[in-house]
Amino acid sequence: MKNKDITIFDLLIETHKSLERQGPGSPEMTLRALSFVENLNENSRIADLGCGTGGQTMVLAQNTAGHITGVDMVPDFIDIFNNNAKRNHLEGRIAGIVGSAESLPFGKEELDLVWSEGMIDGIGFEKGLAYWNGFIKRDGYVVVTCPSWLTSQCPSAVEKFWVEAGSGLDTIEYNISVMSKAGYRFIAAFTLPENCWTENYFIPRAAAEKSLAEKYNGNQTVKAYIAQDKYEVELYTKFKQYYGYVFYIGKKM
Ligand SMILES: C[S@@+](CC[C@H](N)C(=O)[O-])C[C@H]1O[C@@H](n2cnc3c(N)ncnc32)[C@H](O)[C@@H]1O
Repeated sequence: MKNKDITIFDLLIETHKSLERQGPGSPEMTLRALSFVENLNENSRIADLGCGTGGQTMVLAQNTAGHITGVDMVPDFIDIFNNNAKRNHLEGRIAGIVGSAESLPFGKEELDLVWSEGMIDGIGFEKGLAYWNGFIKRDGYVVVTCPSWLTSQCPSAVEKFWVEAGSGLDTIEYNISVMSKAGYRFIAAFTLPENCWTENYFIPRAAAEKSLAEKYNGNQTVKAYIAQDKYEVELYTKFKQYYGYVFYIGKKM
C-alpha cells in the first residue's frame, strides 16, 4: 500500500493489532464482572462479541470451564486472537471467528453468557441488548461495558466527541432501565477505574502511535489520526469525572 492511500481505518487496525486490548479495561475488572455470573460449567456456551485480539477473552477462558466463541469484524484481530488462544493452550475451548455482532451465527437460546467489552455503543445499547437476548438461554447472562455519563452534567465537548465517534452517551440510571426493557433483570453495574483507560489503553496506544509516526514520517492522514487520539486523551483527562466505561450485568428474564 502506498503511504498516500492509507485510511484512518487502516491506521486504527495497524495501531490496535499490537495492543493487548483495543479499548479500556483490565483483567481485574473482567473478573469482577464475571463474579456476578452464576451457574457456568464445562458445558456452557459463551460468546465474546467485539472480542478484538482477545485480551478479555483469555481471562474469561482461564476463569470459566465452558466454550467461548470470539466474534469480531476485523480479520487481522481474529488471526491474532486465534494465535493467542494457541499460545495460551486454550484453542480447544476458545475460537475466534470473523463476523458481525448484528448478525450472529448462533441458534435461538444457545448461549449461557454474552460478553462484550467496548463495542455495544457502536450498535446502540438497547438495540444490541434486545438482539442478543434471543440467543441467550433463560436465566443466562449478558455482560457489557458501555461508555456512560457518570453525573447529570454532560459537558458538550464530550457529547460532541462521542456523537461524532458514532455513539452517544446515556446515564447509568437510564441504561439500567433499558436493560429491563430489553428483557433482562438488572444484576449490577460498576465504573471502570482510571487505570483501565490510562495504563491499559492510552499509554500503550501512544507508544504504538509513536512507531506509526516514525514509519509514516510526514504522512498527513497519520498526523490527523494521531492528533484525534491525543484529543481523546486530553478530553478524558479534563472531563473524566463526568463519563467513563461502565460494566452492566443482566440476567435474561
Ligand atoms: C473498542 S474495541 C474493544 C475490543 C476488546 N473487546 C477490548 O475490550 O479490548 C471494539 C471491537 O469491536 C469490534 N467491532 C465493532 N463493531 C462490531 C460489530 N458490529 N461486529 C463485530 N465486531 C465489531 C471492533 O473491530 C473492535 O475489535
